[in-house]
Formats: sequence, C-alpha cells, structure tokens
Amino acid sequence: MWPGTVHRSFECGVREMINDQKVMFSAMQATGDLTLGNYIGALANWVKTADDYMSFFSVVDQHSITVRRKVSDLRQNCRKSLAIYLAAGLDPEKHCIYYQSHVPAHAQLAWILSCHTYIGELNRMTQFKDKAAKNESNINAGLLTYPVLMAADILLYQADVVPVGVDQKQHLELTRTLAQRMNNLYGDIFTVPEPYITKVGQRIMSLQEPGRKMSKSDENPNATVFILDDKDTILRKFKRAVTDSDRTVRFDRENKPGISNLMEIYSVATGQELSEIEAAFDGLGYGEFKLAVGEAVVKMLAPLHERYEAIIQDKTYLDNIIKSHAEKANYFAVRTLWKVEKKVGFPVHIR
Ligand code: TYM
Repeated sequence: MWPGTVHRSFECGVREMINDQKVMFSAMQATGDLTLGNYIGALANWVKTADDYMSFFSVVDQHSITVRRKVSDLRQNCRKSLAIYLAAGLDPEKHCIYYQSHVPAHAQLAWILSCHTYIGELNRMTQFKDKAAKNESNINAGLLTYPVLMAADILLYQADVVPVGVDQKQHLELTRTLAQRMNNLYGDIFTVPEPYITKVGQRIMSLQEPGRKMSKSDENPNATVFILDDKDTILRKFKRAVTDSDRTVRFDRENKPGISNLMEIYSVATGQELSEIEAAFDGLGYGEFKLAVGEAVVKMLAPLHERYEAIIQDKTYLDNIIKSHAEKANYFAVRTLWKVEKKVGFPVHIR
C-alpha cells in the first residue's frame, strides 16, 4: 500500500501514486489530555474505518499554539496523543501517523490558501468567536486563520473523507469552499472532501453541564472523562453525572440532555441501539444506569489502556514511527504542494 509499490516520480500527484484509492485524513490538537469526546467523536471511528482507505492521522501541534501553553506540556502531550492513536488500534504498518510540524507543506499550503480566504469567512467561524471570547488578551492572527491551516491539512493529502465530531463541521464546510474556489480558479487541484460524522456520539456533552460540549479545558474536574483516566476515576465521574428529576432512561436530547448523553456514550461503548437501552433499563433507576455506563466505558477503554502503557515506554518504537512517518507524509504532501505552487505561478522547482 505504501510507496515502493507505487510510482515514485515527482511528476505524478497523490491520486496517481495511490492508484485512485480513497484517502482518509483526520487530526487532533495536542492541547491537553484527550477526552472521551475525542475518542467517541473521532478516534474510535478512525480505527473502525481506516483500513478502507489510504489513511493519514496527524497530531496537529501547530494548531495547538493559538493559545499559550507551557512548552514542555505541549511536547509531552504530542507524544501522549501519538501513543494513544496507536494504543487505540491505528496500525503504523498501514496508516500514516505523524506530527504536523514535521511536514512543512502544511504551513506552506496554508499561506497560499489564506490568500484565497476572505476575512468575513473566518470571522463567521463559531469556534473563532468562542475562543476569542475566552482569550480576550490574546486574540492572535493564528486564532483567526486556524481553519485555513486545517483546510491545508486535509487538502494536502487529497482526502476524500474526514471523520470528525460535529463541532468541526463548519471548518469542513470552509475547507470544501476553498477546495472548490481553488479548483475553479486554477483547474483541478484538490479533491473536495466529505465530512464523516456519526449519528450517535457526534457531540459528547459535559457530565456536569450537559448543555455544553465535553472539553479538555473544563474547569470542573467531574465534567470531563479523559481517555487515560483510571477505572475508579471513570466510575466516580459517571456516578456524579448530572441527570434530571425524572426517573426513566429515555432518549430526549432536548428535555433530558444528561440522560441522553449517557445513553449515547453507552450505545457507543456497548453497540446497543438507543431503543434497546431504553428497554433494558425500563423500571431501573438512574443510579444503576450510571454505574452501567461507567462500567461499559471502563471495558471499552481497557485494551487501549493496556497497550498504551507498553507503547509510551517504548522510546525506540515511538521515535522510529515519528521519523519514518513524517517522511511518508512529506512524500505525499510535497506533491500536492508543488502542484499548487505551479498552478498559482510560482517558479517551478528544478530537480
Ligand atoms: P479537536 O482537537 O478539538 O478534537 C479532535 C476530534 O475530536 C472531536 N471531538 C468531539 N467529538 C464529540 N464530542 C466531543 N465532546 C468532542 N470533542 C472533540 C472533534 O470534532 C475532532 O474530530 N480543528 C480540529 C483539529 C484538526 C483537524 C484537522 C481535524 C486540525 N486539522 C484536519 C480534522 C481534519 C480540532 O480542534 O479538533
């Protein structure tokens, strides 16, 4: 599947190199410990579908500096994220797993795309508005142009499919707009990607305020389950999850957001349909249900936990992946970049 079997000439683009196999791309920021929301909304779906595509998964460290971080934290989080990707089941023999900053073409393409993006389009992004409101003292240009870098991530690999949680949908729409705009201006350059968003689990909510998305940076320690939380912590957080004054386990996102969120989590963790869950817990109390959800999540994450411990300690294994996969990603990314550079009129590379 990887180069070696494919055409190595720099004259051919990504499509030709992979014999028209479909491409999947997705990524996560390394701003903190990954959450159950990241797992259910994204990572679990990557693992499920990655084998059907030529798949690229990045730890997007460049996206992570729009907000000030402790330098050593960022570096450590990048490594932890990579180890979690692997522990979750991504296969380095089949999928390309790399750090964004190790592939310079991301930032290079982002510049070209930013010259084709209107300020009005960026100002409309809800994530920008939210983050700007939270970081009033540091509304930097990167916070605004963040979706352009994200578009570059995706378009560089000519991705057909991008599995994400629903919070990234608006960014994906902008990516599609930019791809179409560039194609109209310069001829066929980019594949126009489709988001892949599951029906159940597309937006996991805070366990304490089910009206808000579960997020890494929530100040309430009981609001967010982290992928690497231990068994007791996971059970405790679910036990304390906010529900409602009713007593029936019934799916109603509007009127019973806490219980509906728990039902979605349980559905993903066990593979049961929402209607099956309603039937199974008919007549039982919330206490019993919350315990069952906690236990199902513990069971779902147990194999990941086990593999993670081995992977994070294996420095040579991780370092080898970091190096060789950056090379693979560069190999593909530079082809799209050079094609775009040529189309927009930059002098061609002498090879
Ligand atoms: P990030 O790092 O915030 O989240 C990574 C992925 O996890 C999903 N997600 C959730 N899904 C369901 N419920 C939640 N509570 C939840 N929280 C997070 C996100 O939707 C995402 O799929 N901008 C992106 C990172 C990115 C990217 C890309 C994604 C950069 N370039 C290219 C896809 C393709 C972000 O900040 O995701």
